[in-house]
Amino acid sequence: MKKQSKNRPSIVLIGSGNMGTQLSKRLFQKGQNVVQVFSRKAEKAEKLGKAIKADFTNDLKKIRVDADLYILAVHDDFIGSVAKKMSKIIHPNSLVTHTSGSTPSTVIEPHFKRFGVFYPLQTFNIHKKPAWSQIPVCLHASDESDLNFLKKIANAISQKVYFLNDEQRGIAHVAAVFANNFSNHVFAIAQEILEKEDLPFDLVRPLILETANKIRNANPNAMQTGPAVRGDDETIQRHLEYLKKDKDLKAIYQLLTQHIKKEKS
Ligand SMILES: NC(=O)c1ccc[n+]([C@@H]2O[C@H](COP(=O)([O-])OP(=O)(O)OC[C@H]3O[C@@H](n4cnc5c(N)ncnc54)[C@H](OP(=O)(O)O)[C@@H]3O)[C@@H](O)[C@H]2O)c1
Repeated sequence: MKKQSKNRPSIVLIGSGNMGTQLSKRLFQKGQNVVQVFSRKAEKAEKLGKAIKADFTNDLKKIRVDADLYILAVHDDFIGSVAKKMSKIIHPNSLVTHTSGSTPSTVIEPHFKRFGVFYPLQTFNIHKKPAWSQIPVCLHASDESDLNFLKKIANAISQKVYFLNDEQRGIAHVAAVFANNFSNHVFAIAQEILEKEDLPFDLVRPLILETANKIRNANPNAMQTGPAVRGDDETIQRHLEYLKKDKDLKAIYQLLTQHIKKEKS
């Protein structure tokens, strides 16, 4: 089996989108040895490579063949096909991982014997520096020594490291979609409702921040407020009357109201 290099294992980052950019910058900042970054777009590869003093390429055939770790931060649906292309180029015993919450690690298995997952559970944007030290990094590997190897790298970038298998990580991802994607969409609905009536989104910004703040150390169910949990049905009827012109919003409101009432009972 190919051995990891001694002190500073070499890492190649494939993909320079939101995840690839933020992860490679953090690895670099924490003294990890990111030797190369890949993007299909030459400009993006160069920009990121220069930012973290790493080699860069937009040609998959030119990726380093002997790195200790390859991290694929590409769209979920392309992880398997990119791994397949890489298998024609790099060392067959290479350790190849991806950063996806819901994609099983086994999409890499047909192409590499040593595979795993390096999934930081957070929402990333290329322009916003994340608070890495508290981000849960969820790891999985096909082999115990590779898992320990990934743990050392994860420990360098975050204080919160978890071992989750494919099934557990998939479930965590469902929860993450509710916690982030759906709540953010609900914020967007609030903005739409206000701005349609020429009212500023700033009216609810402090409320949104306080909602997230309150659950720092508390159970979200215990923090629930509003007409549904209080059972203020006349208020609910007034809201539904206002929403009657938008069937979708009315349905979302009704479903969430019903669900809050059910949780309360
Ligand atoms: N962003 C998040 O909040 C977040 C959080 C947790 C996990 N993840 C995971 O991180 C991974 C990347 O997500 P992202 O948010 O960084 O996406 P993104 O910003 O859209 O970037 C996707 C990257 O995938 C590359 N790509 C797309 N199709 C490709 C192909 N056919 N061959 C090679 N490269 C391809 C793009 O390459 P080019 O640079 O060549 O265009 C780009 O660098 C996904 O697995 C996602 O589930 C993301």
